[in-house]
Amino acid sequence: AIPLPGDIFPNRSNSAGIDLADPLVREPLLARLRNLETASWYAQPTFCAEESGEVAPINAPQDLRIEIGSRRDSTDEEVADAIRRAEAVQQGWNALGGPRRAVLLEEAANQFEAHSDELLSLCIREAGKTLPDAVLELREAVDFLRFYAGEARNLFGGSFALAGPTGEENRLTLAGRGVFACISPWNFPLAIFIGPAAAALAAGNTVVAKPAEQTPLVAALAIRLCHQAGIPQDVLQLLPGAGDVGAAITSDPRIAGVAFTGSSDTARAINRNLAARDGAIATFIAETGGQNAMIVDSSALPEQVTRDVVASAFQSAGQRCSALRVLYLQDDIADDMLAMIRGAFDALDIGDPADLATDVGPVIDDDAKAALERHVARRKKAGAPVWRRKLARELANGTFVAPTIIEIGSILDLKRENFGPVLHVVRYRSSELGQVVEDINATGYGLTLGLHSRIEGVREFVEARAKVGNFYVNRNQIGAVVESQPFGGEGLSGTGPKAGGPHYVARFATERVTCVDT
Ligand code: NAD
Ligand code: ALA
Repeated sequence: AIPLPGDIFPNRSNSAGIDLADPLVREPLLARLRNLETASWYAQPTFCAEESGEVAPINAPQDLRIEIGSRRDSTDEEVADAIRRAEAVQQGWNALGGPRRAVLLEEAANQFEAHSDELLSLCIREAGKTLPDAVLELREAVDFLRFYAGEARNLFGGSFALAGPTGEENRLTLAGRGVFACISPWNFPLAIFIGPAAAALAAGNTVVAKPAEQTPLVAALAIRLCHQAGIPQDVLQLLPGAGDVGAAITSDPRIAGVAFTGSSDTARAINRNLAARDGAIATFIAETGGQNAMIVDSSALPEQVTRDVVASAFQSAGQRCSALRVLYLQDDIADDMLAMIRGAFDALDIGDPADLATDVGPVIDDDAKAALERHVARRKKAGAPVWRRKLARELANGTFVAPTIIEIGSILDLKRENFGPVLHVVRYRSSELGQVVEDINATGYGLTLGLHSRIEGVREFVEARAKVGNFYVNRNQIGAVVESQPFGGEGLSGTGPKAGGPHYVARFATERVTCVDT
């Protein structure tokens, strides 16, 4: 049997990150990050044809007047050339074997740590992340590289002997499928950009990686660091661009698999594209959106609930796929609980993500801001009680959205994921718990669910019925840790397997069986 990671990595530990509470660490880091504020960055295809492709500026979401770099989009010819190169070297990369690929992935993790200042600076300036969020993102990226390196060593170091009758030798070998397309979102522009690519590489595939159009700069730096670590350029290539570049990549019949993270609508579009192609049937791994709820009953501890609701809904400006969107409060505690939550909500600092005091930074761009504003306006018009923070005037040049709390009747009143700092609240009676869980399931999404209750029977009841990937009890519902909390959803939220979990890397591989009559 293939061993589980617990048996494999008894001594592996996750990245320690950066201790921002220690002034001897924090103050020099802040000074170095200030020095990097004038740096200019670029992203272009790894193998760039001269004089081609459109160049687009990349501006800081916290102040759109600030240009931090530029993106040169991949042309159709560059897409085709990248896939040709990746296909040509795939067998050699596969033949290198898992242990040698692991060394390169681990060296990439070391490079990420050695260049943490630049990566953090880009997460803050390009994606509008606060420094604590940027540190968490870097840690996750490093964890993915090291965890998947371990998987490469374990799963791809040789064959697994299988049982059989005397006189027969049966062996199972895992191998790369071919060229994998890794298409990623802007909200984890480093960790979710590099994580799936690292898994694909670990399994012996070569990779063409397309970052989100909003965040190509940090992705481009990540790719350069992987190349510095010794991963050959043909084996791992960057193809910047918008959705049309993603569509061109996934239409190519030489693509053996797609690892996608982003919205459920885009996942559907890619699935259609893959189905319409000629050539081999591609593997499709999709990690998509959520309509995540938290249920709070009258046995919960109010201070703990307040802390966890505010973190789950408003950390990262609500731009985590795991973020809390709909809070169910048992009616007999709802008024008191809402008063406490509003107290903490009113104390949130909204501002420049580079400022350590900031709790809520900008949303990613004008389109995201406009969609959230439309949603809040519609709810207000429909007469829903709405609380909004006021934005300071100096934030007018950035894409800030005032954190908002809206009361609604049911999670089913929401037709879409609202990806930002907007929390919806629903009141329920304890006799309605079964209906609450049914309604959450009826959204069709199944990513995260939170529960605050000290009643064991309630936990068991919800756990047995909820169709979600990650269920968090008496804590916040964001920030899954690689290996400890493998992450991913079901239904409209994704295909699985879970990122950072024991079954992830194997999904990027094909299985071959050799049977020898001895
Ligand atoms: P998106 O779907 O708009 O874009 C994601 C990526 O797909 C981008 O690189 C984009 O250029 C590309 N793309 C767009 N159209 C394409 C097409 N037709 N063919 C191929 N590629 C195409 O998502 P986003 O706005 O960048 O990210 C936010 C979404 O991601 C949210 O829905 C969030 O919940 C989800 N998300 C999910 C997870 C998870 O683990 N489940 C993690 C992070 C984000
Ligand atoms: N893995 C990320 C989280 O758990 C999406 O918040």
